[in-house]
Formats: sequence, structure tokens, C-alpha cells
Amino acid sequence: MKGLILSGGAGTRLRPITHTSAKQLVPVANKPILFYGIEDMAAAGIEEIGIIIAPATGDEIREYVGDGSNFGVNITWIVQDEPSGLAHCVLIARDFLGDDDFVMYLGDNMLEQGLTEFVEGFENARSAEPQLGVEHVKPAAQILLAKVENPTAFGVAEIGPDGEVVQLVEKPEVPPSDLALVGVYLFDPTIHIAVASIEPSPRGELEITDAIQWLVTNGYRVNHEVLVGWWIDTGKKDPLLECNRLVLDTLKRNVAGDVDPTSSIDGRVVIEEGAKIVNSTVRGPAIIGAGTIIEDSYVGPYSSIAIDCVITRSEIDNSVILRRSSVTDIPRLTDSLVGRDTEITKGDARPRATRVMLGDHCHVEIE
Ligand code: DAU
Repeated sequence: MKGLILSGGAGTRLRPITHTSAKQLVPVANKPILFYGIEDMAAAGIEEIGIIIAPATGDEIREYVGDGSNFGVNITWIVQDEPSGLAHCVLIARDFLGDDDFVMYLGDNMLEQGLTEFVEGFENARSAEPQLGVEHVKPAAQILLAKVENPTAFGVAEIGPDGEVVQLVEKPEVPPSDLALVGVYLFDPTIHIAVASIEPSPRGELEITDAIQWLVTNGYRVNHEVLVGWWIDTGKKDPLLECNRLVLDTLKRNVAGDVDPTSSIDGRVVIEEGAKIVNSTVRGPAIIGAGTIIEDSYVGPYSSIAIDCVITRSEIDNSVILRRSSVTDIPRLTDSLVGRDTEITKGDARPRATRVMLGDHCHVEIE
């Protein structure tokens, strides 16, 4: 079994962060989203992983991930020139995938349950011995589904009375069910025929949903499982903050950085080595990255402050702050996602006013 992680695409919904960086590298609890997918694959025993990257963000992703040895896997990089769709990724990964079964994972998805059981379920179904009187058809694919409130934003599956997948539609206006396709799929090599047989969708992409529908239409068996635990498509700010909360909730306390005697560290907090907490309170769950200084401040629950940040005379909670940013004299920063090398400060200049230098596609709420 091989792995294919899709980490290309345009990342329009996390702009402006994704003007300069890949959305799959945005950290959740100070670790890039993409790393969780690679770790899950490694934990499921997958050693050969192909990663699809876009020309604009691929180099940065390669730099972060390295050669895979940190994760105990081998990585093959596959550059996709244009974001032409998830099925297009399978097309261009043909040489890497060969005739192996593979698990495909969308690099901006995160799920609680890991991949091991899902992969084992497919392997068992494919290797099961035929039993007398029981119809035996090996699945060509296995999909993972989750009940959602807004199915129009996803690929949607309709399941028949006997539990078989009967129909799949990508972002339907009138959804046939509330079961969304989660971004983890298992395929045997039949998928290569499917992706070569479909046409681009109205949004101009070769949809993996259409390729799986092709399998169903042509009589191949597609198994499904309904997800246990949480799943988040992290491509927008609020789901990203939610995901950060869920992962921080699993944190184990570890205070390795310097904490001065006038500070207090309450609950499940990680203070990485090289971080400094001076005259401040950090209340968990929260994580403070190496090289970050928190001074005369309060960092409240569900905050992830990356490496080399400076937080001074401020209060922060439920926020993700990326590396090398500073927050100074801000009485309350909440529900926020702050990019790299960003400064937020209260100025003394007259006339008293809010002064900003914002990139494109930013969103600011002033109290
Ligand atoms: O999150 C689950 C949903 O993911 C499914 O329910 C949908 O059926 C599926 O089409 C997909 O929808 P999205 O619109 O959310 O996909 P997105 O464009 O965000 O791409 C998902 C990942 O794949 C992301 O990490 C970027 C990468 N990608 C995307 C495209 C279109 C590529 O590497 N190449 C591409 O051409």
C-alpha cells in the first residue's frame, strides 16, 4: 500500500496567509497540518508516500518536510502545474503509484481517528476468502463519510438500502444526503481507468468524486465507512481554530522553557525549550513555541503561539499566532489567526486612530 497526499491547490479561502505560504503548512498546536497526515500514514504502516505540490508553494513544503526520514517514510515529490482537480493528482501520480493499492489523503484535512483501521478494513475486504452462498466482490475503492450540516460544501454520497454506495456528487445544490466525503480515500489500480475516463466538472476540475461515481456506474464495488470522531477541513479560519482547540485538548503538560517566579502556568500547557514567560499567566490548553517571549501578559485557553514571537502587555485567547509575530499592548485578542512576521500594537500617535498596513484579502474586526 502506498500513500498519496494532496498538498497543491490554490488555498484561496485562507488568504492572506496563503498568499505567501501553503495552507497545508499552517500550524495546528504549532505543527503544520500536513505533518499530521504524514504521521497518520506512517502509523498505518505506509512507507512510500507521494506528495503533490504546486509550483508556488512546493519548495517551502519540501523544506518543511525534508526527505521523510523524520517521519520514517520515503517521500516522492510530484509537481502539479495547475490545480486541475483531485482526480488530476491521481493521473499525474501514475508512475509513482504503479499498480499498487493506495490511500489518498487531502493535505488540509484532519481527522481524529487516524488511518490504521480504515486501511486495515480495505486490506481485509480485498483479501477475504470467498464464502459459500455469500456474494464476494472485492472493493475497488473505500470512502470515508461524515454527517455534516452543510453538505453543499462537500462531495456527497447517497447510500442504498443495503448499505451500498449508489451515487456521489460534488458540491450539489440539492444534496441527496447529509453524508459528506471526508478527504481520505482508498483505491486499487482500477481508479487509473476511472480518472482517465471522466471529463472536467463545471468548475473546470477533474473531480475524484466523479471518478468514484464512474467506478459505481461501471459495476465496481465501493465500500464506505462512517467516521468515528471529529474531522475538519481546515481550509478556513474558523474550522482551523476549531481544529486547534481539538488538538490542544489532547495536549500533555510539559514546561521545558523558562518561567520566572512571578508567572503562573495553569493546566495543560506546553512551554517549549527556549521560550520565556515573564510576569505572565498562561492558562491551558495552550502551547508556546521555542524562542517566544511572553511578558506582562495573559495567554488564555486554546492559544497556539509559534516560535520566536513576542507577546507584551497583552491578553490573548482562542488564537493561532504564526512564527516571528509580535503583539504589544493589546488588551484582548481573541478568535484570531495571525500570520508570520506580523506586528499588532497599540500606538500613541495623534490623532488617536487605528492605523493598519494589511495585505490583500485580510479581515480585521476592531472592538
Ligand atoms: O474536505 C473534503 C472535501 O475535499 C470533499 O468532500 C470533496 O468531495 C473534495 O472535492 C474536496 O473538496 P475541496 O473543495 O475542499 O478541495 P480543495 O480544493 O480544498 O482541495 C483539497 C486538497 O487537495 C488541498 O490540500 C489542496 C489539494 N489539491 C487540490 C486541487 C483542486 C491539489 O493538490 N491539487 C488540486 O488540483
